[in-house]
Amino acid sequence: MDVVLVGLPGSGKSAVGRRLAHRHGAQFVDLDDTIEKTAGKAIAEIFATDGEAAFRDLEREAVAGLGPADPGPNIRTVVATGGGAVVDPRNRWALYRGRVAAWLDVRPEVLAQRLRRSPNVRPLIAGRDPMGAIRDLARDRERFYSAAHRQNGVAELATIVERIDELVGRLARQPEPAVLLRGHSLGGDVVIGEGIAATAIADALRGLRARRAILVSEPGSWAATGEAIAAALADDGWPVERILLPQGESAKRLAVIEDAAGQLARLRTERGEPLIAIGGGALGDAAGFLAASWLRGVPFIQVPTTLVAQIDSSIGGKTGVDLAEGKNLVGAFHPPAAVVIDVALLGSLPERQRRAALGEAVKMAALGDDALFALLEAEGEAIVRGDATAFESGAVAELVERAAWAKVVVVDGDEKEQGLADGRIALNLGHSLGHAVEAAGGFGDLLHGEAVAHGLRAAVRIGRELGVTPDDRAARIERLLTELGLATERLPYPLETVLGALAADKKHADGVLRWVLPTAHGSVIRSDVPVDVVERAAASLLVAPGSAVTP
Ligand SMILES: NC(=O)c1ccc[n+]([C@@H]2O[C@H](COP(=O)([O-])OP(=O)(O)OC[C@H]3O[C@@H](n4cnc5c(N)ncnc54)[C@H](O)[C@@H]3O)[C@@H](O)[C@H]2O)c1
Repeated sequence: MDVVLVGLPGSGKSAVGRRLAHRHGAQFVDLDDTIEKTAGKAIAEIFATDGEAAFRDLEREAVAGLGPADPGPNIRTVVATGGGAVVDPRNRWALYRGRVAAWLDVRPEVLAQRLRRSPNVRPLIAGRDPMGAIRDLARDRERFYSAAHRQNGVAELATIVERIDELVGRLARQPEPAVLLRGHSLGGDVVIGEGIAATAIADALRGLRARRAILVSEPGSWAATGEAIAAALADDGWPVERILLPQGESAKRLAVIEDAAGQLARLRTERGEPLIAIGGGALGDAAGFLAASWLRGVPFIQVPTTLVAQIDSSIGGKTGVDLAEGKNLVGAFHPPAAVVIDVALLGSLPERQRRAALGEAVKMAALGDDALFALLEAEGEAIVRGDATAFESGAVAELVERAAWAKVVVVDGDEKEQGLADGRIALNLGHSLGHAVEAAGGFGDLLHGEAVAHGLRAAVRIGRELGVTPDDRAARIERLLTELGLATERLPYPLETVLGALAADKKHADGVLRWVLPTAHGSVIRSDVPVDVVERAAASLLVAPGSAVTP
């Protein structure tokens, strides 16, 4: 078994690691030493001459160079990581799975004192007030460190080593699935990991002092994931109740909510008892609305089982149902108490679902997330195909984490859609015409993400005409959509129908359509897009009148 030590600069990873390795006759690997050997120069020098990005590349190589984790019960290797190694999702994928990851938690005040006395040069702190710098790093990285097992790092070396020994012993007897991220947000605590669904639900239930697990799901997600989660919770001693809503969009109806509320009444569900939503976006929207309205609101836990739900709909607290008159017309903001994102649940998802979800991911990338952009360009096609390597390499986990956290950041800045230019409204990129083509197809033809991909192409074209989207940015976004097989065919809808749907949307928004348009590195909001520019962009998505429907 390998032990990985993570924590802020100065938290004692090297000292603890050396002592622990010595005690077990294990190999000690200091990743910073490995990097210095490979580069032939000191870390401070790498930062100074080649920059942080070059250092991070070397760090990623060094982590990959550790090879597969040792599964045996004895400690064979102890790895001390650089403080920032865990920021990269791929590094955590390699370090936290199959290894015992321990976080040496030391308060910033103590660290600042230690660093003032230390002869080592720490590039991210040098030249800054150590206290301020450490506090910033602690805030930015807490979600990565706290996914590892927390150890109090302010104790005698021997005590810390002793406690890590106990931790290793416990995990050798009773292995736990890998948590990759544990973050807080206004929209609830977010935990991401592989195989974590049942254990993370149980943690959340304990946090909410629940006495049983009331699962709300639908037949598709239940067969693919829910049944196994229910069995694991029951094995863990939880009394389990189950309420099944209809599959797909038909869960989002008031009649379904009424029926489910009747079931909650018969189960004598009390104020404060949490509901657990296991399913895709439609199930989550409906179950969330049920939780928002049952007894005027009970806590709920989102367990998203589709890619759309993991990167988008489970985060932010929007819940609701549809009416015959339109989608999502009745609903409530009801942020979940916890969002449990288990990437292992995605294995059974059909290809079309994965591809469509990437429509939203490309949108997030186009809003200015360069790392997400690069990931989609390099590995998006493998993710769509569902290649085993896309899961095993951590590409899927990285995609989910980057896109989900990008949504957390936006939502936390603008919880109730205040309309700030850089707030939640930016998430509507691609949605104006996207929604219009979705409506033109009667909401049955296109999946939501597919429609967003069409809308994104339209936004890019409008942005170019207005001189807002530079040519190279426009080409890069459209090329990525094409590579992922998104919006590659023109749609067979009449232009008037699409423009009619756009006008109907406008009525809901005070008669003003605010277009989110891509810029070189982000987006702008424009309410002054001329009608003819919109018409040309819409027409460019559609089969020209009189021509055959061909690719
Ligand atoms: N609340 C929000 O902020 C928000 C954001 C985006 C989308 N949405 C909503 O999300 C819905 C679309 O989400 P969706 O695509 O996840 O829909 P969905 O819930 O209908 O799921 C799609 C299909 O996948 C199946 N499925 C679920 N998990 C599976 C698994 N692990 N393996 C195999 N099959 C599985 C389901 O049975 C269903 O048939 C729409 O209703 C949309 O309005 C909400």
